[in-house]
Amino acid sequence: MSDRDPVQEFYGRYAALYDAIATAPGVTRWRASAGDALDLGPGDTVVEMGCGTGANLPHLRERVGPEGRVVGLDLTRPLLVRARERVERHGWENVAVVQADATAPPVARTDAILGSFVVGLLPDPAAAVADWCSLTDGRIALLDGTSSSHPFGAFANPLFGAFVGAGAPADSLGESVRQALAGGDAREGLDEKVAAAREELTARSSDRRYDEHAAGFVSVLSGDVG
Ligand SMILES: C[S@@+](CC[C@H](N)C(=O)[O-])C[C@H]1O[C@@H](n2cnc3c(N)ncnc32)[C@H](O)[C@@H]1O
Repeated sequence: MSDRDPVQEFYGRYAALYDAIATAPGVTRWRASAGDALDLGPGDTVVEMGCGTGANLPHLRERVGPEGRVVGLDLTRPLLVRARERVERHGWENVAVVQADATAPPVARTDAILGSFVVGLLPDPAAAVADWCSLTDGRIALLDGTSSSHPFGAFANPLFGAFVGAGAPADSLGESVRQALAGGDAREGLDEKVAAAREELTARSSDRRYDEHAAGFVSVLSGDVG
């Protein structure tokens, strides 16, 4: 994938805004829940696929401790710069962020894998999850936003669609607005990709857990691949 890939261009342009949203207090709770779902212990190694600005790294580092290892992979350079700044600010010597493709990760073996708000951006999420399953005997957790199946969702899903449309990679503000107005399509596309990733993880794992947040709009599916 080149630097002119729409996903990289979009997230690169809005890196500062993305980081502010990604570390908002409510969002932090979802990240802690995803960290818990991995059942990490001191000394473990964990890889985050598509780590963005590194908002999950503190949660992962806290769980593996100073003797463990955390690796964040992402394609988008401006986001990785922020992730690196976060690592340096904390002085974590056992946390590394690397520019790499989550669909062909340069990972030999790891104790656990996190995919957080990323499978919906991958061309073939099921294939990516199948590949991730071959890299670990431990747990994989997928933290994602989707339409809600709660009764409240019947009213709020269109709003969620507008949010997804506006937040999807676009070339211009006008294009973002157009996507927000056609939010239903963006929402359905995201739902389908997340469902494909989750079906793959479900088929390949045991001891699955499912945690919901934000009235069912955000959830974590995790499973043991070993
Ligand atoms: C919505 S952001 C999520 C970032 C972070 N995981 C979080 O929870 O805040 C999606 C991230 O996935 C990255 N991404 C998309 N496709 C990717 C790929 N094929 N390989 C690596 N990173 C990818 C983007 O660059 C972006 O940083």
